[in-house]
Amino acid sequence: MDHDLIVLAQGLYKSFGRLKVLCGIDLTALSRQVVTIIGSSGSGKSTLLRCLNLLETPDAGRLVVTGEELVFGQGADKTKIHQKLLTIRQQVSMVFQNFNLWSRLTVLENVALAPIKVLGLKKNQAHDRAKNYLDKVGILDKANVYPSMLSGGQQQRCAIARALAMEPKLLLFDEPTSALDPELVGEVLKIIHLLVKEERSMLLVTHEIGFAKEVSSHVVFLHQGIVEESGPADKVFNNTDSQRCRQFLDSVL
Ligand SMILES: Nc1ncnc2c1ncn2[C@@H]1O[C@H](COP(=O)(O)OP(=O)(O)O)[C@@H](O)[C@H]1O
Ligand SMILES: [Mg+2]
Repeated sequence: MDHDLIVLAQGLYKSFGRLKVLCGIDLTALSRQVVTIIGSSGSGKSTLLRCLNLLETPDAGRLVVTGEELVFGQGADKTKIHQKLLTIRQQVSMVFQNFNLWSRLTVLENVALAPIKVLGLKKNQAHDRAKNYLDKVGILDKANVYPSMLSGGQQQRCAIARALAMEPKLLLFDEPTSALDPELVGEVLKIIHLLVKEERSMLLVTHEIGFAKEVSSHVVFLHQGIVEESGPADKVFNNTDSQRCRQFLDSVL
């Protein structure tokens, strides 16, 4: 089977005030593969992911995400961007470092909310769907409790179930295990591994280099808002030409 392009970014720029965070990013990701993004803190990894699902609006550049094309910068069509934003939000789900669960909703309600609000599912349909994904991540027995009753690992598994319940074409993971106690990292990586085996399309920001080596097809190393190195996982992890990339890998391994 062939792998279509699921993400194409060309010349993406993003600044916050005077701070230039993305300085002309080019990136491609193929469907049913894992692209891992690595780089030191502040290199722009989260901003890049947030631009891909339009939580941030790039200042300039071109994006094609799940087949939707967007052009930013001078002359950009803001109405068109807004329309496509809604489509992209339905097709791209993100899992955050700090889970970002709704504390006043139960685990089940957390997972069912977006399918009801964004996809227009009926409540009972959405709850059935939510139970299915809670079962998949192994916390169906927690459906009716509040997130504060869960361990960090369980909260992140809930967040993954919430992302899956949108049945997205693309999953974005932003350091999904960085906020977890070391003994809870494994249970979350296990779920992500399951999704990799299902050949889901995903972009993964992580410092878990061992795990990344196992699952990545392609690796992108960001340095100060630029793609300093990118290529097949084996090349980047084991045989990079970039001294900065090698230094970074040595520092996190
Ligand atoms: N909303 C924002 N407003 C202002 N500065 C931001 C915002 N988001 C990120 N930044 C800054 O952009 C830089 C890159 O941040 P980020 O993309 O989070 O990097 P990384 O995820 O690689 O650590 C940092 O200096 C950060 O403080
Ligand atoms: Mg980050």
